[in-house]
Amino acid sequence: MANDAGAVFDVVILGGGSGGYACALRAAELGMRVVLIEKGKLGGTCLHNGCIPTKALLHAGEVADQTRESEQFGVKSTFDGIDIAAVHAYKDGVISRLFKGLTGLIKSRNITVVEGAGKLVSPTAVEVNGQRYEGRHVVLATGSVPKSLPGLEIDGNRVINSDHALVLDRVPQSAVVLGGGVIGVEFASAWKSFGVDVTIVEALPHLVALEDEASSKLLERAFRRRGIKFELGARFAGVEYTDAGVKVSLENGKQIEAELLLVAVGRGPVSAGLGYEEAGVAMDRGYVLVDEYCATDVPTISAVGDLIPTLQLAHVGFGEGILVAERIAGLNPVPIDYAGVPRVTYCDPEVASVGLTEAQAVERYGSDKLATISYSLGGNGKSQILKTTGQVKVVSVKDGPVVGIHMVGARMGELTSEAQLIYNWEALPAEVAQLIHPHPTQSEALGEAHLALAGKPLHVHD
Ligand code: NAI
Repeated sequence: MANDAGAVFDVVILGGGSGGYACALRAAELGMRVVLIEKGKLGGTCLHNGCIPTKALLHAGEVADQTRESEQFGVKSTFDGIDIAAVHAYKDGVISRLFKGLTGLIKSRNITVVEGAGKLVSPTAVEVNGQRYEGRHVVLATGSVPKSLPGLEIDGNRVINSDHALVLDRVPQSAVVLGGGVIGVEFASAWKSFGVDVTIVEALPHLVALEDEASSKLLERAFRRRGIKFELGARFAGVEYTDAGVKVSLENGKQIEAELLLVAVGRGPVSAGLGYEEAGVAMDRGYVLVDEYCATDVPTISAVGDLIPTLQLAHVGFGEGILVAERIAGLNPVPIDYAGVPRVTYCDPEVASVGLTEAQAVERYGSDKLATISYSLGGNGKSQILKTTGQVKVVSVKDGPVVGIHMVGARMGELTSEAQLIYNWEALPAEVAQLIHPHPTQSEALGEAHLALAGKPLHVHD
């Protein structure tokens, strides 16, 4: 921990999660003098309580499912259950290796790291541990925490949030998951793989309701097959403790008993009491408001990551952090096209997308101006080998570019790397159809969908 209090930095960054540390790395790379202030651990939610640990749990779940199902592939094995302590050791090992790498990287770029809880005390200064750090610029990157509902108390034992779920020292017999958004379906998926009897309660008509409706429906079908129960269009009314755990009541009168309730109704910004409003920063319901360059209305203050009302994704935080560093350095960065950010929900099967949903595209262009193709993974060799089902759906403007790609199936998240190039480069279906995809891979499904859209379907039954 360095003590450079009193020095004037080019940039003072409050919060060392994805948004804050990406900004620090890029700013340092551009020759700026940077101080990065973090009260917890560098890496933030993504590394310690979010993306990385959840994906480790999901992978352990995948291994469990593959062990149970190995005879389908002619491989004999016996599934003896989940050793949750060992699952946590595996997960924590991944985190600690990445954490070590990140701290080393930040040190190697000569970034001053200050441990402690900071507070904005002027448009150009943050105070930490009684010391003041002045900068030409300040970047707010204090992230988000799990939300609850009014009157719903998280006790950390029977009524928990994702932070508790990540360190749960047992595999519950049963669980109700409140919220069928990204966090809800990922935990439901991992827990089902661990053998938990799971019921999701979602107020909206679909799981992962922000996705294309076709993707939600395919996920719901797959979850039904996996024995994951869900109540859609069902609002939570209350929870009471029972001898065995909890009884969850819904507004439709249904009651569900389970060992615990996981509350996954969204994440809210961390901004209370941090001096933002006092410094004149415009805010809305705790979020810091910014323009397309992540600049607040105070010229010296920028904000990035989950603290601002853009997509709450680690890779968006990286992008925003880099954007701010480059703007402060006087470069001329291009604003982020948020529709072009790939989105992946890592449940089994995975749901992945980029661009507009079909409904959004209809609203923007009109249905008569669109051409849409859904290519079933049933016709894809590698997907058959993996025994996964699902589809790749491509929405394009007639005689125009691809405006949305929506995929459901095992490993579909990996295909967003190609899908995002197609969307962001405004490729025409005929241009993508010209590219030869490697066989046998799941990426061929993307190629096939574009071949079909270009009017020359290959492996498509009439
Ligand atoms: P979310 O906003 O995605 O989903 C919350 C769900 O809870 C919504 O569908 C909402 O309709 C439902 N809900 C709210 N109140 C309810 C009520 N009273 N009764 C029934 N249902 C109710 O939030 P979530 O899943 O907690 O995730 C938070 C953020 O973290 C998201 O922005 C997400 O993008 C991000 N995240 C991203 C991941 C990824 O990219 N793989 C993984 C995990 C989180």
